Amino acid sequence: MKEKETSQSDNQPTVYVTRRIPEAGLKMIRSVCQVRIWERELPPPRRTILQEVKGCEGLLSLLTDPIDADLIAAGKRLRVISQYAVGVDNIDLEAATARGIPVGHTPGVLTEATADMAFALLMSAARRIPEGIEKVRAGRWRTWDPMGLLGADVWGATLGIVGLGRIGTAVARRARGFGMRVLYHDRVPMPDSEEEWGLEYTELDHLLAQADFVTLHCPLLPETQHLINEQALRQMKTTAILINTSRGPVVDTDGLVRALQEGWIRAAALDVTDPEPLPADHPLLELSNCIVVPHIASATVTARERMATMAAENLLAGLQGERLPYCANPDVYK
Ligand code: DGY
Repeated sequence: MKEKETSQSDNQPTVYVTRRIPEAGLKMIRSVCQVRIWERELPPPRRTILQEVKGCEGLLSLLTDPIDADLIAAGKRLRVISQYAVGVDNIDLEAATARGIPVGHTPGVLTEATADMAFALLMSAARRIPEGIEKVRAGRWRTWDPMGLLGADVWGATLGIVGLGRIGTAVARRARGFGMRVLYHDRVPMPDSEEEWGLEYTELDHLLAQADFVTLHCPLLPETQHLINEQALRQMKTTAILINTSRGPVVDTDGLVRALQEGWIRAAALDVTDPEPLPADHPLLELSNCIVVPHIASATVTARERMATMAAENLLAGLQGERLPYCANPDVYK
């Protein structure tokens, strides 16, 4: 196994990092820890993480690493798990809390990058940009075409935001600039945001029926798994476009394939999928009304650097027995 080891001093805590992250974060960790890094492009196999976790005090994980109860139990010396992401659905938080292990994550710093991507996907699907690029590249651009690649208006359309957290709110702000009517659904109404950004709270059914664009920004939880199933897709307008930058399993993929093939909705634009990655022969990739990008919403240089330093801050705080600045399981401190 190709792994890199930095050994400085025997009394420094050992940390396992499951993939190379930006140097800004690694530098902070290396200055006080012995660091072992999985250097390959694809995630380490479970057996490797299991083996590594037995000997380390700190684990820096990615969303591609399933950190389940057995793995947490195997980490007898483990004092902190620091996730290089805001979403922590790959980690058994209950098991970590039960063992008294704080779990860090990286909220806030990828909000704007992710909202930018949601809007980029919305615009791309509405105005059929990938199809246009493909047409030009394939030499099929023969003239200005009065009927070619007609898309949907964004300006003045109705946007439905499912999950009005940080990212959902950042998308709402962008929508104002496009003169959109913005509906949102969340567990509870948020009157302050409504007033500040001119939003309207609605039940999910109403949002699905009214919106020209539905954008998903809820975390993956048991209650949001397949939230957008066949029934939900059938409630949407036949002209509507679905955007997902949250987590793949929030959408029922088989239902979405049918919806796109049979015209229940106009199009979908996905940064996240289920399964992830999507196999190259997946039916979604055969559809001209579906855009898929490889989970890159937070992939800007500044967002990823800040995620790395936040993940390092969490890791180092946990190793020093201090409260994590960005903790995903605050119950661990009760
Ligand atoms: C996250 O942080 O949860 C994103 O999905 C990846 O940056």
